Amino acid sequence: MSNYHIKHLEEYYQVYRKSLRYPEVFWGEIAEEHFVWRKLWDNVLEYDFSKPSIKWFDGAKLNITENCIDRHLRIRGDKTAILFEPNNPDEEAQHITYNQLSERVNQFANVLKNQGIKKGDRVCIYLPMIPELAISLLACARIGAIHSVVFAGFSSTALATRIQDASCKMVITSDGSYRGKKTIDLKGIVDEAVDQCESIETVLVAKRIQSDIRMKDGRDKWLQPLLDEASTICEPEIMDAEDPLFILYTSGSTGSPKGMVHTTGGYMVNTAYTFKNVFNYKENDVYWCTADIGWITGHSYIVYGPLANGATTVMFEGVPTYPDYGRFWEVVEKHKITQFYTAPTAIRALAKESLDFVDKYDLSSLKVLGTVGEPINEEAWHWYNDNIGKKKCPIVDTWWQTETGGMMISPIPFATPTKPTYATLPLPGVQLALMDENGQEIKGNQVDGRLCVKFPWPSMARTIWGNHQRYKETYFSAYKNMYFTGDGALRDEVGYYRITGRVDDVIIVSGHNLGTAPIEDAINEHPAVAESAIVGYPHDVKGNALYGYVILKEIGEGRNHDNLRKEINQIITEHIGPIAKLDKIQFTVGLPKTRSGKIMRRILRKIAHNEMDNLGDISTLLNPEVVASIIDERL
Ligand code: WTA
Repeated sequence: MSNYHIKHLEEYYQVYRKSLRYPEVFWGEIAEEHFVWRKLWDNVLEYDFSKPSIKWFDGAKLNITENCIDRHLRIRGDKTAILFEPNNPDEEAQHITYNQLSERVNQFANVLKNQGIKKGDRVCIYLPMIPELAISLLACARIGAIHSVVFAGFSSTALATRIQDASCKMVITSDGSYRGKKTIDLKGIVDEAVDQCESIETVLVAKRIQSDIRMKDGRDKWLQPLLDEASTICEPEIMDAEDPLFILYTSGSTGSPKGMVHTTGGYMVNTAYTFKNVFNYKENDVYWCTADIGWITGHSYIVYGPLANGATTVMFEGVPTYPDYGRFWEVVEKHKITQFYTAPTAIRALAKESLDFVDKYDLSSLKVLGTVGEPINEEAWHWYNDNIGKKKCPIVDTWWQTETGGMMISPIPFATPTKPTYATLPLPGVQLALMDENGQEIKGNQVDGRLCVKFPWPSMARTIWGNHQRYKETYFSAYKNMYFTGDGALRDEVGYYRITGRVDDVIIVSGHNLGTAPIEDAINEHPAVAESAIVGYPHDVKGNALYGYVILKEIGEGRNHDNLRKEINQIITEHIGPIAKLDKIQFTVGLPKTRSGKIMRRILRKIAHNEMDNLGDISTLLNPEVVASIIDERL
């Protein structure tokens, strides 16, 4: 018998030890007892980190939508699967039952088929947080098409890059989206992107804001009439456990975004198992994760993990500040939310406002609170614990990544005692290591190092789409036979982990991973710019904000610097999206470089952090003299 639901600390340790000693028995039992397979696997696990090649449940056959939908119909067909809370609180919430979800997913799957989408084809999804978004993911999965969701805040250039990288045949979008008081012309962004994408044959358009948009003949089709004609029965495509389920892009330190490829069987098992344990999920709970499905958190913990458990999962279209700072808590009261999962940046933003926005609402339904995406600072942790959880809801600080597919380090509520700012203990099946700079594992407690994983887990990404070599170099080359996370961490005296932040050139701004290179490339497109370098600096709401050092081609050319700053942010918005805009832009005469010409970001970081006293040794620089002028001109 598997220990599917851990209830106390001793049980956690027992299960954890079993997962270390007998990982295949551990995962094999969970997979067999709690999921529907058309055929069981030949082997639970085959792997070789040197290639790297990782296969879980190889030879097994399944369709993930049978696990997320069909198997629930007999026992909970009338239960709400997706609870849609619109941007505007005056618009009615929608309760989509499992029966209705089944019909809508099957219909949508038939539309995809009728439009020529087949197993293995890539479908790009660029939608706001409306039910069609979750439904389109599941419809792709139903027929074995690989979905590639692009967060609907990315610009047309960013969208085009992602469509081209995966040669998507179709884009699914909407006529526009609501965001607080604003509407956004999503279809216009898609038009601009698709003009540069030859692989796209069809653009399916859902109606959301009833705007008057241009439809291109032959290419663009309204979704609803196609759904109306489609049958509500679509036999699931039977997939191999290792067939790709989706691609999701994440920023790297350098170069273009990486299309992380997740496969079907292991991803399903791990997201469902972690959802159940980390949220202590019970049948009548109403679970709400505030992330966007455009990110991994939404894929794993709005769609697949909750639905595989037959849960009610809330999809929220709006923003935490509209119509006012009490919106989250209003929704918690309205739908009697039991588990609430959000990002530290949202907590920090709301904690700055009056407590009246919280105290107006009855939050007594809450049982478990969660955070994800970046380190949570002590102050925010206590604010969340005191004012939202009223000190009776354990906070699960969940550490994981787009690449890991599911949560890796987290307390298990009512079992693991929490500790502010600590993600605490590895979940069952997760074997961590801290490494030093010489490639040696640091054993023992009260140490810090670079966080690695020593053994495969079922939901790990298997490759980078179209670039397995880059996958190997990024994750499996820093340390032999280890997956390197890119994060630093410390382990305290009892073995609890605290994530200290990225150790590479990825900067997490408001919980979004941003690579410095694509932002610098965008800035350098400005005709007046010669060179630029971006670093992060601490920001009390966003966690980190971006600080740009920019060298102009002609110094003192008499241009108004504030205008230039605006233009630079405009270019960034066009190339990436507003999330990557710089908070500070310093025009400078030079950038500190090593003798091999590499920018010394360490020094720029210190200056941006206002830590000029301890810049370290600058004598080895090619141009040590620029450091003084950068400090002089500091903003
Ligand atoms: C950071 C989000 C501290 C970390 C699921 C990681 C965290 C990156 C935490 C992945 C946490 C995520 N505490 N840092 N609880 N959770 N991170 O791919 O740096 O968007 O490497 O996945 O976010 O971000 P991603």
